Amino acid sequence: MTILGIDIGGSGVKGAPVDTAGGELLAERFRVPTPQPADVGSVVEAVAEVAARFDGFDSIGVTFPGVVVDGVTRSAANVDKSWLDAPAARLFTERLGKPVTVLNDADAAGVAEVAFGAGRDQSGLIMMLTFGTGIGSALFLDGTLLPNTEFGHLEIAGADAELLASDRARETEDLSWEQWAARVERYLRHVEMLLSPRLFIVGGGVSKKSEKFFPLLDIRTPIVPATLLNNAGIIGAAIAAGQAAAGPGGQDPGAIPVDAAAPAGQA
Ligand code: BGC
Repeated sequence: MTILGIDIGGSGVKGAPVDTAGGELLAERFRVPTPQPADVGSVVEAVAEVAARFDGFDSIGVTFPGVVVDGVTRSAANVDKSWLDAPAARLFTERLGKPVTVLNDADAAGVAEVAFGAGRDQSGLIMMLTFGTGIGSALFLDGTLLPNTEFGHLEIAGADAELLASDRARETEDLSWEQWAARVERYLRHVEMLLSPRLFIVGGGVSKKSEKFFPLLDIRTPIVPATLLNNAGIIGAAIAAGQAAAGPGGQDPGAIPVDAAAPAGQA
């Protein structure tokens, strides 16, 4: 079964068919700019444009930068407010004519990293954090995802953590690596105080520059950069769709349990 993974990001909507058993793209990914404003109708069309570039796939996994419960998008911190309570999985399925699974973007990236990347073969509590426009979180216990954790919105010093320590904050406030790392350290210390994870995996574009800020972080938890980089969301979305297609208890090769995603039709 061939599955298409599509990642909805702040600047681009990217997709490719995925080998979910090997964790690799089966073709070069195709990207269109994220429409502005990124309202539901425009983004559904952008996703359809990406999907139209490929053929021979049976189902599709789509990431979304907010909470997704049973295919319905429940939050919209950094996206157009038309996504609040939108039946996303149903809308995508109707437009694309194939079953679509929708899950949170950080959850998708974490699913890919735990299956094939920096979190592979790691037991216990593993936390993936993506630093980008916001801060995304994905929590895994022995490889099983606890979906929609939203730890990017913890309150730090009276503020939403992602407004303080996201990569966007670093850029817009023109922070030095030292200044930004101090904020990230404060955030990570708070998270480790609450959860005591065994490992932090850091994703998002800034993870490519981990040598600039990892050495500045004084925390107790081991921390590693994500290894699948730009493709983690695409691969994780496809894994989730494969698992949804396999049904409850079904085993898609290479898949790990994902509860965030519901097969289209349940939305
Ligand atoms: C959203 C999360 C998302 C993260 C990264 C946050 O603002 O609330 O759902 O995973 O940004 O996109």
